[in-house]
Amino acid sequence: MTSFNQIIDVIKDDLQAVENILTENTASEYSFVDMAVQHVVEGGGKRLRPILVLLSANASGYKGHDAHLLAAVVELIHVASLVHDDVLDEAAIRRGRETLQTKWGNKVAVLVGDYLHARVLSMLVSRRADDPAMEILADTTQAMCEGEVIHAYKSGDFDISESEYLKIIHFKTGKLIAASCTLGAILGQNRQEHINAFTSYGQQIGTAFQIVDDLLDFVSDAEKLGKNAFGDLREGKLTYPIIHARKMCDENEKQELETVLNPDTEETEAIAYVETLFEKYSVESHCLDVAQEYADCAKHALKEVPDSEAKNALKNLADYVVSRDS
Ligand code: IPE
Ligand code: IPE
Ligand code: MG
Ligand code: MG
Repeated sequence: MTSFNQIIDVIKDDLQAVENILTENTASEYSFVDMAVQHVVEGGGKRLRPILVLLSANASGYKGHDAHLLAAVVELIHVASLVHDDVLDEAAIRRGRETLQTKWGNKVAVLVGDYLHARVLSMLVSRRADDPAMEILADTTQAMCEGEVIHAYKSGDFDISESEYLKIIHFKTGKLIAASCTLGAILGQNRQEHINAFTSYGQQIGTAFQIVDDLLDFVSDAEKLGKNAFGDLREGKLTYPIIHARKMCDENEKQELETVLNPDTEETEAIAYVETLFEKYSVESHCLDVAQEYADCAKHALKEVPDSEAKNALKNLADYVVSRDS
């Protein structure tokens, strides 16, 4: 298995250029604003979305500065969504650091998320109005927010089906990941089949990515994740592994599962019961199998794309999305 650092080696200089743009373009002259913003912008993370812009651009024959700017833009949209998501999920830790609301409260967190969206607008304002990136980014940000709203609305709904859930994650997570690939591809190529191949690749790894994220909440630990494990369980949030486990349950188990997901249940008791169900119904391997199917479809989507180091990196990245532990 190729390591993450090996996968991104082909674009590592570009990635450094993106980091510089992120720092330069998010600075505020007001010292507290600057401190709060840098707390989340500099906070690391995998930089998956910028990596996808850069690899897709490179695999489409593009080498230039526009890819750096668009890569920084998608990362900022992502960071804004995480800042707001952590308010919704009442999360204490993100990327190994305290979340903004833990440090300075919900008000600051909500407003820093808004500030990041404002920075995105000003980074795009000088672009031509007919630049396809503008429409893609506007539609994608809208879809991502719609996905988060629907997920929040459905949060207590035990009857949510696997297919409904997959649709939600396609919006809240898949759209931005897919758009990152589309934006990169468009920079280098205008053949629609070529661009569609990258969009399709991104959609498939986006779904795989969220299924694995949902699984890691149960099977990884805070140190690796940089965020608290069992956060979804604590919030009573229904995610892919639980929705699948529930589908396998008999009526008594369904009742018991509903009881343990109630926030009044002792956390250790909830974890123990969920672990029993996961074991009984092989939930972990099912999630990994489903995610791998999406990753395989993603790789297949690139079959007509000319071979290159960057294309190879994208194929390895699809497998990494499934095998990662953070
Ligand atoms: C977390 O995304 C939110 C999801 C869509 C699951 P990442 O796992 O890409 O977060 P960072 O950017 O590495 O922190
Ligand atoms: C959030 O999904 C997805 C977004 C689009 C922000 P999660 O709630 O699963 O993300 P984490 O687990 O907090 O990173
Ligand atoms: Mg969350
Ligand atoms: Mg999660």
